[in-house]
Amino acid sequence: MRLNSVVFKIGATILFLQLIILIPFGYIVLQLILNYSINQTETQLVQLSEKYAGEINELEDPENIQLLEHLTEMTNTSAVIVDQDGKIITKANWHDELTNQIVTDDQLQHLHKGETVIEEVSFNGSTYLKVGQPIVKENKNEENASVILFSSFGLISNSIHNIIILVILASLGAIGLAIGFTIFISKKIGGPLIAMEKVAKQIAEKKDFSRKVDYQANDEIGSLATAINHLSQTLERYQTNRNEFFSNITHELKTPLTYVKGYANAVRHEMYQSEEEKQEFLEIIENEADHISNLMDDLTDLSKIEEGKIDLNKEAFNLNMLAEEMMRRSQFRANQKGLKLHVYTPNTPIHLYADKNRMEQIFTNLIENAVRYTEKGEIKIEVTDIGNHIQVKIIDTGIGIKKQDIPFLFERFYRVDKSRSRANGGTGLGLSIVKNLVEMHEGTIDFDSELNKGTTVTLTFPK
Ligand SMILES: Nc1ncnc2c1ncn2[C@@H]1O[C@H](COP(=O)(O)OP(=O)(O)O)[C@@H](O)[C@H]1O
Ligand SMILES: [Mg+2]
Repeated sequence: MRLNSVVFKIGATILFLQLIILIPFGYIVLQLILNYSINQTETQLVQLSEKYAGEINELEDPENIQLLEHLTEMTNTSAVIVDQDGKIITKANWHDELTNQIVTDDQLQHLHKGETVIEEVSFNGSTYLKVGQPIVKENKNEENASVILFSSFGLISNSIHNIIILVILASLGAIGLAIGFTIFISKKIGGPLIAMEKVAKQIAEKKDFSRKVDYQANDEIGSLATAINHLSQTLERYQTNRNEFFSNITHELKTPLTYVKGYANAVRHEMYQSEEEKQEFLEIIENEADHISNLMDDLTDLSKIEEGKIDLNKEAFNLNMLAEEMMRRSQFRANQKGLKLHVYTPNTPIHLYADKNRMEQIFTNLIENAVRYTEKGEIKIEVTDIGNHIQVKIIDTGIGIKKQDIPFLFERFYRVDKSRSRANGGTGLGLSIVKNLVEMHEGTIDFDSELNKGTTVTLTFPK
């Protein structure tokens, strides 16, 4: 596992949090137990000393001394009886190290007043709790004597020792737990993350879109996996699209270039029968060059639109006037084919806020198509105001389109009848461009057509 891996960071954080809780917690528990033990020992020792002081009434009585010896052994304490000057009269269960000064003058004074004396004392590195208790006098004239009890803190320090060991064990347990948890998380999170990294690298470096992340879960990692798979799919589609696009372009360029080359060759080698035929050959060359130039213009437009590189220069204009102007421009071509052109607009001006040049481009393309694919009859443009929207219909009485072809019309280079389109200067890109431009204006475009009867294209734009 790498030191900078997410999993390692999570593991370290868990461990850190556990220790941060455990160490102060251990310390507090230790202090509580320590205080409790000291208090407990103190209370016990005071009670014991009161008991001894009450029971010993005859200082010189051997039976009393024996009792004291017995009791101190049982309670694991040591005791002395001192006279009123602090001099030792009797010792019970005594250790030599306790021989130092037993009571201070100050403590003696308290004892004489009948008060209990408590003190922590140290001898040779061991700590003891000392409790002094005045012995109850039988009569007033008797001397003031006191019992002094000692209890070692050894027992307390034993339990502290145990607690420290417990805290250390718990810390070790916490570390173990954190490591276990880290391993668990590394399998649960690290595994899929590494798999995703591999797939992403495969995509980026080798352009291999076949590998998928095989991880399904209803969490963030699951949705990341789905997103990566989705991205891979999109890229794959994009690449196929692009490859198709390029091979289409090559194909589209090849035909006119073959014509240009063939006829140029024919003219150069004077393979024509008459001057008239020569002019015909040259005209073909010119038309094919025009075709290539149209193709280039359309391609440039389309790629700019698809890359989102064109901005709309919106302005308010009268759509009625634009429709009439567009119709006028097509008049010549229509007249050549003997077609009638009509424009129907409302009496009041229809104001549209849009990019006028792009609108012209939309209209030109659709009217050109109508003229191109109509042999007899008429072409109508109808502009209507329908509440929030403006509707424009371009209706022809032409060759029509089969129902099953309609969904593909907006695809690049799609043509129902390739040779007819070519013969009329079509590139197959017009409707792709139109659809993009309409959508940029938040409009819609629909085809309704019947074979051999005619086609109606309906455009709607928000006002
Ligand atoms: N008004 C129409 N009537 C019949 N067919 C049409 C009409 N408009 C478009 N089409 C069909 O849709 C195809 C795609 O149109 P378009 O993208 O403008 O390309 P083209 O350059 O061929 O005109 C055309 O080749 C034609 O087959
Ligand atoms: Mg067209």
